[in-house]
Amino acid sequence: MRHLISLFDLSTSDVGAILDLALELKRNLKAGERRHAILEGHVLTQLFEKPSLRTRASFDAAIVHLGGSSQFMSSKEAGLEGRESLADVARVVSSFSDAVVLRTFSQKLIEEFAEHASCPVINGLSDDCHPCQALTDLLTLREVFGNLNGLKLVYVGDGNNVAASLAVAAAMTELELTVCAPESYQLPESFLTQLKSAWPDVRLVQSTDPKQAVGQADVVYTDVWASMGQEEEASERKRVFAPYQVNAELMAAAPDGCKFMHDLPARRGLEVTDDVIDGPNSIVFQQAENRMHLAKGLLVWLMKESSGD
Ligand code: CP
Ligand code: NVA
Repeated sequence: MRHLISLFDLSTSDVGAILDLALELKRNLKAGERRHAILEGHVLTQLFEKPSLRTRASFDAAIVHLGGSSQFMSSKEAGLEGRESLADVARVVSSFSDAVVLRTFSQKLIEEFAEHASCPVINGLSDDCHPCQALTDLLTLREVFGNLNGLKLVYVGDGNNVAASLAVAAAMTELELTVCAPESYQLPESFLTQLKSAWPDVRLVQSTDPKQAVGQADVVYTDVWASMGQEEEASERKRVFAPYQVNAELMAAAPDGCKFMHDLPARRGLEVTDDVIDGPNSIVFQQAENRMHLAKGLLVWLMKESSGD
């Protein structure tokens, strides 16, 4: 049985297969094929500790398009806040689900859930990573640029869950990634050790100077400065990250036509200004729509991979 607990669970060819499936399903849908019934009768359970728009709604839409249905439960409703053990919740929920999407604070919770689950488990974001987002970003880049070979993606902002998954995605592909963050907000050392051990040839540049970093960028990417769970640090982060705002001045330091990406939700006026996110080079809503197409590719791939178990 296969899970997607982090991108370290996948090989480069797995990623290629998921993206191919997602793009094929997207093409079919755009051609008017609304229901594929590939996963007829399948049940997807979504169990979230944190709020979500894109992840929850895109997986809901994805499973309906594929002929199945979904159910949602908050961690409180599921009993994850002490009503019973995590292992028991995992055993019970997975016994009547074909896949489970979890959104949690702790990465360890998803790992432990998967240990006791009898169906594939998908990480719908944890404090450590956001694999579905990074896969979607690869899909979007492939659509916009044709391929990823030598593409220069410059992430400006917090070295957080989104940045970490982008770093793994880049290591697995031909994408060249720069993470430009304030000194104390770079990707964590423990993550870099894991990344280098899994992908020894990884080409990842870390820097602190946004204008210099975006000089050769094909794409500039940013995310919120304070992630869910870091609300108390928001005002301090606002001060530290102010020079990292993606605005017209920063985009002017990038080559003409440089694209802009953001996983959303955006804090407009903080990490990005309206003129950039709403500007002609922004691909954020294509990126957001692609969450659903990626979810479909991922679900079909996971079911196929796990069908022999
Ligand atoms: N990008 C993303 O995961 O959005 P949500 O938090 O709304 O799911
Ligand atoms: N880094 C953000 C991503 C939201 C999709 C967070 O964790 O809140």
